[in-house]
Amino acid sequence: MRDAAPVSTRPRVLPPNDPRQYDDLADEWWRPDGAFAMLHWLARARAALVPPASGQDALLVDLGCGAGLLAPHLVGKGYRHVGVDLTRSALVQAAAHGVTVLNGDATAVPLADRCADVVSAGELLEHLPDWRRAVAEACRLLRPGGLLVLDTLNDTLLARLVAVEIGERLPTVPRGIHDPRLFVDSRALVAEAARHGVELRLRGVRPAFGGTLAWLLRRMRATDRPRGAEPRIVPTWSTAVLYQGRGVKSG
Ligand SMILES: C[S@@+](CC[C@H](N)C(=O)[O-])C[C@H]1O[C@@H](n2cnc3c(N)ncnc32)[C@H](O)[C@@H]1O
Repeated sequence: MRDAAPVSTRPRVLPPNDPRQYDDLADEWWRPDGAFAMLHWLARARAALVPPASGQDALLVDLGCGAGLLAPHLVGKGYRHVGVDLTRSALVQAAAHGVTVLNGDATAVPLADRCADVVSAGELLEHLPDWRRAVAEACRLLRPGGLLVLDTLNDTLLARLVAVEIGERLPTVPRGIHDPRLFVDSRALVAEAARHGVELRLRGVRPAFGGTLAWLLRRMRATDRPRGAEPRIVPTWSTAVLYQGRGVKSG
């Protein structure tokens, strides 16, 4: 009798930005020191841009919500948190963290015009073949006076260097998760949001150097030590790499 063929334990290699990577990395989402660690840090910083809800039944729509990493940072702010994502394996985890989930495309969301008090698009636009459609959709969902918050990567050489060539070699960002051709020009983003009634204000952000270095050292040394504080995301003078946007819908 012939021996059974050995089962490969090597991860499959997928093209850059292939959404199936999120299935392969499904167990990483909620590991604070795992492959999506930086998404945890960014979720905290994004949530800080969201004020407490002004009324009852306030709705926050989280486009590309992934496994719902924003959810813990919204606790007590008074929103119903609805998350939209293509990846079912992530949505199962988002639902377990209290998010009402919709499996679908952020560029065609099955929700009514002007239904949302807040729309969040965290680390989503730079993964889309047409980010303009997602911006239009975010603005369609917002009620007049509603708030758009987002963060993304700029379409610059520096962003390619920092986020892909360096970032994807560190344990903070999964390798191959980005396709830099999809990175989002910050001026074009502001213009597109304005076309849809949202005046976006941008600011550059980055992980704090000291905290990130300490995190990297801890991460390299051991996995079973008690965790320290996670690195903070802090403002920086340039939007050339990573930036946040915040803007209110007119009307
Ligand atoms: C980098 S993750 C960010 C997840 C989450 N916003 C966070 O910050 O933790 C990008 C997410 O966008 C989702 N995604 C990619 N393309 C999408 C699309 N067209 N519509 C909805 N979700 C999409 C992926 O499945 C993934 O969960």
